[in-house]
Amino acid sequence: MAPGAIELHLGDNLDVLARLPDASFELVYVDPPFNTGKRQARHRLRTKRAADGDRLGFHGLRYATVKLGTRSFADAFDDYLAFLEPRLVEARRVLAPHGSFFLHLDYREVHYAKVLCDAIFGRASFQNEIVWAYDYGARSKRKWPAKHDNVLWYAKDPERYTFEYDAIDRIPYLAPKLVGPEKAKRGKTPTDTWWNTIVSPTGKEKTGYPTQKPLAILERIVRVHSKPGDRVLDFFAGSGTTGEAAAKLGRSAVLVDSKRAAVEVMARRLAAYEPRCVGFEPRARRTRGGRAAKDEAVERASLDADKAERAPKERVTLELAPKRPATPRRAAALRPRKNGATPARSKAAPASRRSTGAAAGTASGV
Ligand SMILES: C[S@@+](CC[C@H](N)C(=O)[O-])C[C@H]1O[C@@H](n2cnc3c(N)ncnc32)[C@H](O)[C@@H]1O
Repeated sequence: MAPGAIELHLGDNLDVLARLPDASFELVYVDPPFNTGKRQARHRLRTKRAADGDRLGFHGLRYATVKLGTRSFADAFDDYLAFLEPRLVEARRVLAPHGSFFLHLDYREVHYAKVLCDAIFGRASFQNEIVWAYDYGARSKRKWPAKHDNVLWYAKDPERYTFEYDAIDRIPYLAPKLVGPEKAKRGKTPTDTWWNTIVSPTGKEKTGYPTQKPLAILERIVRVHSKPGDRVLDFFAGSGTTGEAAAKLGRSAVLVDSKRAAVEVMARRLAAYEPRCVGFEPRARRTRGGRAAKDEAVERASLDADKAERAPKERVTLELAPKRPATPRRAAALRPRKNGATPARSKAAPASRRSTGAAAGTASGV
């Protein structure tokens, strides 16, 4: 791949990974979905003798089935790990000898996946568990609100890996007065807890892809864990955040996703870098005039379907106040006057529109 080149692949990542050569990427970052669609509930059953039982046994005796419980919780993780394992093995294979692997998960999956990663990469290769902390959305009153994701970092060779200390961005001191003006001005390097707000639902960065991660998080990973000209791989690429970070920082990137909606979003987002598209022809490139709008509608519908399909996790949702019915009195109040004067807005009206303002979110305050 030429330096700075971007490749987008539509397809199952296991198939695409199989075509990638050994040791060909200095940095691999993945943010897999938990909902793989393979979850199964296995019921544990016991039988006991009963004249009116639902099962027939030896000598015509009848038995009743007793359901002991559903092991769906453990099985969901078994299925998830079975889905992840071959992909993680491939991730290690395609990693350069001094390369780094990042696995982005949430608190429900991370402990199971850590054990799996230790087995694949070796415990000695584990470097950090980065906690991405945000502070946005509903707050539970029954437990501590979960407001973080976990990112595991493994170095293929724990003795030799890229860590560009001088490329780390600096963050403000919490108590700048304690460190003096010069240090306060320079800021400090972050720890393994990274405070960063979510992608603002109303901001410029938003692509509309449901699980988009903040560019600032990916930029930090790419800047510190690779060098200009290096090759970056994300095989659960979604909206292409990793690709944008890589391209902005002069790295090349291979981005893979099995969903048409994702590769379309990436093709549009990364158009300035003229990506090579493998396994699909981006709609934006082949549409003319009226067809573009139709294709966008198809894509939007596909994104909506993705949203509906997602695992029942706590997600950020905007709460829009319900539309008030237009009573004749209210409609009359809002109708423009003959003299051109704008009618005074009822006090309640802005409140229903104000809700998206909350989307600017409350960054951590840190
Ligand atoms: C959590 S999203 C990634 C979001 C991304 N980090 C971003 O910032 O936009 C996970 C992505 O993995 C994709 N995916 C799931 N299974 C896949 C598979 N077997 N092969 C390739 N992509 C897959 C989904 O379509 C989804 O877009």
